[in-house]
Amino acid sequence: MSELASEHAADFLVQTADLPWVPQGSDNVWFKPVRINLEKGSWVNLLKVAKSGVVNRHRHLAEVEGWVLQGRWHYIEHDWQASPGAYVYEPPGDVHTLVADVEDESEPMMTLFFIHGPIEYMDADGNLAWVETAERKLQRYTDYCREAGIEPKLDGILF
Ligand SMILES: [Fe+2]
Repeated sequence: MSELASEHAADFLVQTADLPWVPQGSDNVWFKPVRINLEKGSWVNLLKVAKSGVVNRHRHLAEVEGWVLQGRWHYIEHDWQASPGAYVYEPPGDVHTLVADVEDESEPMMTLFFIHGPIEYMDADGNLAWVETAERKLQRYTDYCREAGIEPKLDGILF
C-alpha cells in the first residue's frame, strides 16, 4: 500500500434504494440517512416531504447545502421556490420553515441535504423544542429499524 493510500479513509457507495424512509418527526416528512459523521457532527440525508408536509421552523447552527431532485418547495421566511436541479445554500443562523409545494400525492418533493452541524427546532411560540444532531439522526434511524424489524445498514453511512 502506498503512503498516500494509507492517509485517507476508504471510499464507499451507498445505494439509497436499499435504505428505508425513516419518519423525521413531522407528518408527511421522512429521511434516508446517506451519511452520518459523529466526529464532525454532520450528516447527509435524502429528505422526502409529501403533500401537506411541513418541516417545523428551525435554526441551523452550521451551513446547509441542498440539491433538489424532485418536486417543489419553499421556505415561509424566504421569497424563492426550489425546483428540481436547484442548489440551495443556507448560512449558519438561518431560520426557516419548509413547506412542500406538492399537488400530486404520488410525487413528493425529494432533496439531498448536506447538513454541517446541529439544527434547533422551535415550537409554535418560537421556543427551543429540541436539537437535532448527528447522534439523534442515527438514533432515529436505528430505532426505526428495530421497530420495523429490519437490520440497520451502517457500512459507509456511519464513519
Ligand atoms: Fe433547514
